[in-house]
Amino acid sequence: MKVLVIGSGGREHAICWKLSQSPLLDELYCAPGNPGTSLLADSVPIAADEVHELADFATSLKIDLTVVGPELALTLGIVDEFRLRGLNVFGPRQQAAEIEGSKVFAKQFMERHGIPTAEFEITHDAEEVRRAVKKFDGEYVLKVDGLAAGKGVIIPSDEDELEQAIALFFEGGRFGSSARRVVVEQRLEGEEISLIGLSDGTHLLPLATSKDYKRIGDGDQGPNTGGMGAHSPSGVISEDQAAALHENLGRATLEAMSAENRKFQGVLYLGLMLTEDGPKVLEYNARLGDPEAQALLLRLDDDLLPVLAAGAAGAFEVDRLGFHPGASACLVIANEGYPGKPIAGDSIEGLEEAQAMDGVEIFHAGTKAEDGKIIAASGRVLNVCARGDDLGAALDLAYAAAARIDWPHKAMRTDIGRRVLL
Ligand code: AMP
Ligand code: GLY
Repeated sequence: MKVLVIGSGGREHAICWKLSQSPLLDELYCAPGNPGTSLLADSVPIAADEVHELADFATSLKIDLTVVGPELALTLGIVDEFRLRGLNVFGPRQQAAEIEGSKVFAKQFMERHGIPTAEFEITHDAEEVRRAVKKFDGEYVLKVDGLAAGKGVIIPSDEDELEQAIALFFEGGRFGSSARRVVVEQRLEGEEISLIGLSDGTHLLPLATSKDYKRIGDGDQGPNTGGMGAHSPSGVISEDQAAALHENLGRATLEAMSAENRKFQGVLYLGLMLTEDGPKVLEYNARLGDPEAQALLLRLDDDLLPVLAAGAAGAFEVDRLGFHPGASACLVIANEGYPGKPIAGDSIEGLEEAQAMDGVEIFHAGTKAEDGKIIAASGRVLNVCARGDDLGAALDLAYAAAARIDWPHKAMRTDIGRRVLL
C-alpha cells in the first residue's frame, strides 16, 4: 500500500515508525514531516492545513490510505475533501471533528446526552465571564471555544489572573476567533487519564490506557502545554475499569454522535478526570494525543496499517488490539521558554547515543536538520520513549536515555510518572 501521514510532530513520527514495520506497506510519505520522519518516509513539502494541495498530491500519487495526525487539518475538513475525491482516509469529517474543534459544541453535546462533565456556562464577553465565575465559588477554569494547541485552558488563582485571562481572550487577540466564546466551568479535582479508541464509524477498538502530563513544571505546576510526557498504561485504573469506561463513555459518545448525524470515524480521545463523584469528561479530541501516541504505539503489538485501512473503509476486521503486557513511557524535551516563547536554535548532542540504547525510541517534533546537525528548533523538540516490563522500568530507561541528550536550553520535567508509581 501507498500511505500518506499528515503532520510533523512526535505523534506523526511515531505513526510513521509503526506503519513502516508493516509488511503491507510499499511506500510511505509524510507531509510535511520532520527530520525524524524523513528517515522512514519521503517528506512532502505541503503543510498539514493545505487541504486542497494535500488532496491533489494524494490523487496524483494514487495514495491508498491517508492518516491525519493533527486536529487543525481535521477541523478544516480534510477528510471531507479527500472523500469527495474518492480517497481513503482515516479521520473524522469536519462535522464530527467539531467535538474537538468547539468546546461549546462538546459541552452542549455532553449535556444533551447525559455524558458526565463539569458544570459550565457559555460566555461571550468580559462581563459575562465575571458574572459566570461567581457561580463556581472561585473553583473554575476558563476555556476558549476553538483550537488553541492545548494552551486554551486557563486556571486563574486570583482576581488578577482572572483579569489577565479576560484581557488575553477578548483584547489581546492571541486566540483570534477561537476566543469569541469562552466556557467557564467548574474546576474538578482528581487524577487525569487519556482514554483513546479507534472508530470505524460504528465500532470502537479501545487502545490501552495512557496518562499525559500537561503542565510545564514538576509537581504539575505552571501553565498547560501540549503535553510534557506520557506513559501507558495509565497506572491509575485497572483493565476492567478501562473497559467499562470505553463502553460507558467512548461507545456512548460514538452512538450519540451517530444519533446527531455526525458519524465519528477516526480516533476518539476522551480526556477524563477521575473525581470523587466518578469519571468526568474534561475534553474530547478527534485524533491521537501527543505524546500519548508515542507511548501507545510503542506498546502496540498488532500491525496498525490493516486496522487503519479497515477503519477508513468503514468496518474493522478485528474486535480488539494487542498491547505489550509491560509498559511504555515518553518524555518530552522542550526548549526553555515553552509554552511561551521558546529559546530555539541550539544544536542537539547525544541523540545517536541515546537512540542506540536497547528498548529506546526517539521521536522528533520541533527539530530541524542543518549542516549535518539536528537543531532544537521550536517548543517541544524531542520525545524520548522507552518500553519496559513495568512502568518503573520504562520510565527509568526513558530518563536514562534523556540524560544522554543535551543542549544549552534543554528543558524537561523530572517527575513524569512519579506520583503514579508511589
Ligand atoms: P482540555 O483542553 O479541556 O483538556 O484542558 C486541558 C487541561 O486543563 C486538562 O487536561 C486539565 O488538566 C485542565 N482542565 C480542563 N478542564 C478542567 C476542569 N474542569 N477542572 C480542572 N482542570 C481542568
Ligand atoms: N497530549 C494531549 C493532547 O494531545 O491533546
